[in-house]
Amino acid sequence: MEDTTNQAIVLLLNLPHPCLGGINLLSFTTTPRFYGIKNLPPGWHFVFTSSTSSLSVRHGAWFHVKGPSSAPPSSSAAPSPPELFIKKWDSATETLLPETSPTALLHWRANLGSIYRDGLTPYRQSATQDRDEEETNDWARLTDCITPALLTRITGETPDHWSLTSASSAKVDIDDIPGLPSSSAAGPLAEKELGFLPIDLKQTWRAGATGRERTHAAQDRSWYLSSLITTYCREDENEVLGELQFCFLMVLTLNNHSCLEQWKRVLGLLFTCISAVGQRPGFFVRAIQTLQLQLRHCGDVEGGLFDLREEGAGLLRGLVRRFRKGLEEVEGVGKVDVVDELEELEEYLREEFGWEFEGEFVRRGMLELEDGERVEMEMSGYEEDDESGEYAPMVVELTPAQASALDVGDAGTLSLPERLHKVKRESKSESEESEEAEESEDEQDLDDMDARF
Ligand SMILES: *[C@@H]1O[C@H](CO)[C@@H](O)[C@H](O)[C@H]1NC(C)=O
Repeated sequence: MEDTTNQAIVLLLNLPHPCLGGINLLSFTTTPRFYGIKNLPPGWHFVFTSSTSSLSVRHGAWFHVKGPSSAPPSSSAAPSPPELFIKKWDSATETLLPETSPTALLHWRANLGSIYRDGLTPYRQSATQDRDEEETNDWARLTDCITPALLTRITGETPDHWSLTSASSAKVDIDDIPGLPSSSAAGPLAEKELGFLPIDLKQTWRAGATGRERTHAAQDRSWYLSSLITTYCREDENEVLGELQFCFLMVLTLNNHSCLEQWKRVLGLLFTCISAVGQRPGFFVRAIQTLQLQLRHCGDVEGGLFDLREEGAGLLRGLVRRFRKGLEEVEGVGKVDVVDELEELEEYLREEFGWEFEGEFVRRGMLELEDGERVEMEMSGYEEDDESGEYAPMVVELTPAQASALDVGDAGTLSLPERLHKVKRESKSESEESEEAEESEDEQDLDDMDARF
């Protein structure tokens, strides 16, 4: 049997019982005997907890296991002790804090023996070895672009503990649950700004660019991607994928809505690049692979508020369609790999969600730049769907009927701004209808919630 006694351990102390605990893609309800998790493989891990086992505030922290040193074990030396991570639940702030006191660390290390067998749950515990392998490998791939630099930029913390919470996303629900403090966000820990890449898809050209250059940069965001990589990622393009991975996993495990918005922005940027595909084909292959793997895991964590399938529908469909169209213009030896990978993704979406891509009509619309200039372009799902967000008043979508109305219909009597205004109003009223439909669904959800509590 494999010797596991020197594999890493994370202790989760002072948890209320029962509480929801989780590590990576696994979640569980804790018992009073639970002290933590043993047999952690090397690599990134994310532990999270919630003060109750329902869907309330969740808090979690990343840490990195180096793994047993690769030096060959010499028979004379004692086996190296396991790496030990200690996180304490602080009920006042409802957060996991790192235990840094050397005395406490010594104490727990000395007492590991007494809790090792019954107090620590093994990380791998599926019925079969194969399933374990698959989960561990997928987790490794879901985090393979995450780096200490990325986590420090986003969470603003230092090694080896990078934490975040889902403070406000469930706030409305929290207010309604008796017995829970009505606003934990107003506590001693004010909401922390996450240091995401400042992606603004409305301004994707260099300072001072004018005319054609600007229009081009609005239609093909490649310049903008490079500039973000240079300015914020120390030229490490994989950090953009790391951010995509981070955001996805924080939506999955914590339901952190800010991360969901950023996940959409990163995808919105990547899949509206054209010339960059020829320059960085390997990067785009990895981006598409990352997205597909994420989609395969979007239902993994119990109690996830967010269903990527629904959310993704409008966004992804549009983006994939538009990206494929853009690829037609790309030249370069690496292009074929990107096309292959995209076809695989489409195949997966077709099988899993029944989406069709062949022969689909790509919508054209007008994107209004921040100074009021309008650029005609193919619209991705991101722009189409984000009626409520920053795009709301800026995007004018043209259905074929509206487009032809623009060309002929009123053309003689209305000025261009008037015509656009008319089209805008028409598409607005459509979206209002769908918003109403969504609202009644939300009410339905609330009723369901009430029934449970
Ligand atoms: C996401 O996490 C950050 C950092 O912990 C937190 O400040 C923010 O409130 C969270 N956002 C939501 C919507 O949960």
